[in-house]
Amino acid sequence: MKRRPFIAGNWKMYKTIDEALVLVSHLKEAFLEEKNVDVVVAPPFTALKVVSDQIKDSVIQLSAQDTFWEESGAYTGEISPAMLRDVGCRYVIVGHSERRRYFREDNEMINRKIKATLNFSLVPIVCIGESLEEREMGHTFNVIERQINECLYNLLPDEVKSLIIAYEPIWAIGTGQTATDLQAQEAHQFIRQLLSSLYDTHLANVVRIIYGGSVKPDNIGGLMAQPDIDGALVGGASLNAPSFIDIVRFERG
Ligand code: 13P
Repeated sequence: MKRRPFIAGNWKMYKTIDEALVLVSHLKEAFLEEKNVDVVVAPPFTALKVVSDQIKDSVIQLSAQDTFWEESGAYTGEISPAMLRDVGCRYVIVGHSERRRYFREDNEMINRKIKATLNFSLVPIVCIGESLEEREMGHTFNVIERQINECLYNLLPDEVKSLIIAYEPIWAIGTGQTATDLQAQEAHQFIRQLLSSLYDTHLANVVRIIYGGSVKPDNIGGLMAQPDIDGALVGGASLNAPSFIDIVRFERG
């Protein structure tokens, strides 16, 4: 089954407004004809508005890096899915391992965020993945299974169909140590089989599962050649226009 490739740049806590504008203007110039791939950028909150304005008439789509689950209220420092919609976001990254680690987000909180995101017609990019210790102890599949069960708890099949799952093994993030093509494929295949047993085969075949962790222009081709890898969530290499452009153009190799 052919799924539309999805390549997103997670800028994390990088880029001032001016820097964001420079980067996105290069991307906009480069991506005039990217019709067969979803190209997404996730700038920090402070740059969402200007980037949103700049990409309006382009193929580039906008994502936020996080959201709170309430629509509005006395929640100092938080940003709601309604606000993200208002600024022009179509996607929201939810449950990134850096949020789990530094802000103690757990699967139950992530489940709430996913539901809130879907309620505002935004598409959640749900991040899961094991730590090095968990992998070395042979717990990779158990960890993934638990994350999927708990993060997707009580979602309707149609909701699950619409979301994007990002498999990001923690030991591969920002380390330069990518999972091998086969390690990544094995995890993606496991996730798809899990979706098939929790829901059905059709649903499992529709959901896009993307890989994140030290994706670079020179390893994207091998990853994308795997049958269950549908795209990438790119950190460091998305901060630089030429490398992100090369990643998005993986098919031209
Ligand atoms: P790097 O590409 O810098 O390893 O980051 C991956 C990531 O965390 C994307 O969300």
